Order: sequence, then structure tokens, then C-alpha cells
Amino acid sequence: DKGNHRHFMEKEIHEQPEVISHTLANYLNFADGTVADFDLPFDFAKIERLAISACGTAYLAGLIGKYWLERYARLPVDIDIASEFRYREMPLPKNSAALFISQSGETADTLASLRYCREEGIPISAIVNVRESTIARESDGIFPTLAGPEIGVASTKAFTCQLSVLAALTLKAAKARGTISPEEEQALVRELSEAPRYASQALKLSASIEKVARELSHVRHVLYLGRDTNYPLALEGALKLKEISYIHAEGYAAGELKHGPIALIDEQMPVIVIAPHDRIFEKTVSNMQEVAARGGRIVLITDEKGAQNATLETLETIVLPDVPEFVAPIIYALPIQMLAYHTAVIMGTDVDQPRNLAKSVTVE
Ligand code: M6R
Repeated sequence: DKGNHRHFMEKEIHEQPEVISHTLANYLNFADGTVADFDLPFDFAKIERLAISACGTAYLAGLIGKYWLERYARLPVDIDIASEFRYREMPLPKNSAALFISQSGETADTLASLRYCREEGIPISAIVNVRESTIARESDGIFPTLAGPEIGVASTKAFTCQLSVLAALTLKAAKARGTISPEEEQALVRELSEAPRYASQALKLSASIEKVARELSHVRHVLYLGRDTNYPLALEGALKLKEISYIHAEGYAAGELKHGPIALIDEQMPVIVIAPHDRIFEKTVSNMQEVAARGGRIVLITDEKGAQNATLETLETIVLPDVPEFVAPIIYALPIQMLAYHTAVIMGTDVDQPRNLAKSVTVE
């Protein structure tokens, strides 16, 4: 049932404040600002590496998880696309563990990667949305996302719930490895507890997003740029746009611009830059200047501070509330989903059932 929404995707985008809140509450104690006491099939204090593997949007959640786990918990993370992982015969040392991420829990390549790890004898965990799935059943321990059924082929609420679980796991790992103090744990839990409220605010940006969507509906190619955790979001923005609007889109780490993609920039090319005012904001601003100097049309997705400090002309600036750096990827996922959604609606594509795609990819 779509309720009063035109598509399941729109409904699922709007459910995010609620499902993020449910998911976080499963892993965190908001009352006292601590990580909850949930079971793990391995000890974060004892492992030396974590191998993450997944497909599509779930893989991009894992990529953000890598940035978080390495930064806050000092845990080295290998991340692979499952279709690569299953065949590349990666060595898995005894003191490592595996984490698979899958909304459906039935994705063939992710399952094959899990079985590879099983043969290698390392502990297996999975972030899944469907608890009765094969991946859930074959894991030693699962971390459910409480997103509820996701019907739209384009993953939206499952993604932000996967990020919510990864953020909680990061705190769990950081605590076990002694890389954050109780005060820092409390501060980060408090920040996460605000995520649903920020997400609701982000949903109110429809007007400026629709304006950009009208522009995008006339173009053939779009480039997405971001640094740090905004780099996986750039990849996710491009994936979402191409899968439902059929516009060709590429996501790049902003620092890679001058290593190739800058050759594509001309007056026809919209460049979507995801850049909250963080530690490396100025670096992204210089990339935007390079785009502007070549006539590229910039859509900047930022916060209030970023909008004030990015002294350059944009086609549109989408301004989110100022949010703490740790929470930002969960919140910035929303405008990129909405942008893809509105573009597809304007173009009249089948938003919930895009051509050639299946919700669950159970064959190789
Ligand atoms: O069910 P899974 O999370 O394992 O699915 C993985 C991908 O097939 C999925 O995320 C796909 O990329 C989505 N259609 C993206 O919106």
C-alpha cells in the first residue's frame, strides 16, 4: 500500500526518519548515551581485519562503513564488490572476520562470498533487512535493519538503515578497541539520536530539489563528486539516477577530477557536488572552481556554513541543516535519493520497476 504517495519509492524515502530511529534504537541506548549490549559472532578487540562484501547500494553503505570503522575504531577494513570477492581468492587471516550487507539477504554474489568465508573458517556476520533470508540463516550472527519491507527497486530506506547499523557497529568496535572515551561515546550516540530529526528536515527540501530535477531531465550525462564519506554518496547518487531515470551518471572522488573526468566538463554537464562544511570542505571548493572555470554547471549539496563559504556561482545550492560529521552520510543520502526520484518522475519512467532490473538479484 502506497498510502498517499505516488510511488513506493517516494513512500520509502519519507519513512526514513521513522525507520532510522527504530534501527538505531535497536543498537544504542539513547537514555544514557551508550552502545547497547548486543551479541557479536566475533570480538572487535581481538580481530585485526574486517572484510566487508556486498553489491550495489549495499556495497556503497559498506564503503562508508570502512571510512567510519577505520577512522573511529582504527580497525583496518577490506571492502569488495561481492562479484569480485567471490572469485579473487583473497587471503583471510585467522584473526579476521567477515561482514556481508544485503537488504534481501538473497543476492547470489553476496551469498557466494559468504560461503567462501565459511570455507576459510572465519566468523561471519551480516546486516540484513529480511531476517528469514538465506544470508541471515548462513551467518554466525546478524545485525538486522528495521527498515520494514522495501518494495521500490531503488534502495532508499534500506541504505540509510544499513548506515545506521554500521554507525552503531563503529561505536561498538571503537569502544572494544579503546579508541574512544566514554565521553566521546556519549557524544556520538547523542549525535546519532538526532539523525531522525535531521532526516525530517532534509525531506522538506523538495522545492529546490525539484528545480534541479527539471534541469537534469534535459541532459544526457551527470557527474557526482564528493570526498571522504561523500565519495561513496557520489557513487550512490549516480547509481540511483541511472537506475531510475536512465540518465548516464558517474560518481567520482572529487580529487580524481583532474586525473581524467575533467575532460568531460562543458556547459552541458551538470556537476553535483556533495560537500558539507567539514575538514576538507576547502579542497572540494577548489575542485568546484575547476569545474566552474570550464563552464560546468554546479549543483552544490551542502549545509548553511558551506553555502556561506563556497563563494562561487551555482546552478542551485541545496542547503541542509548543519549536522555533525559522523551523522552527515545518513542525512545527505536523502537529497540524492529525492533528486533521482523527482528526475525520474518528470521523465515519466517506471520509478518502482525500472527496466531491466530486479529487486533481488538471485542469479549471477
Ligand atoms: O538485496 P541486496 O541489498 O543484496 O541488493 C544489492 C543490490 O542489488 C541493490 O542494492 C541494488 O544496487 C539497488 N537496486 C540499488 O538501488
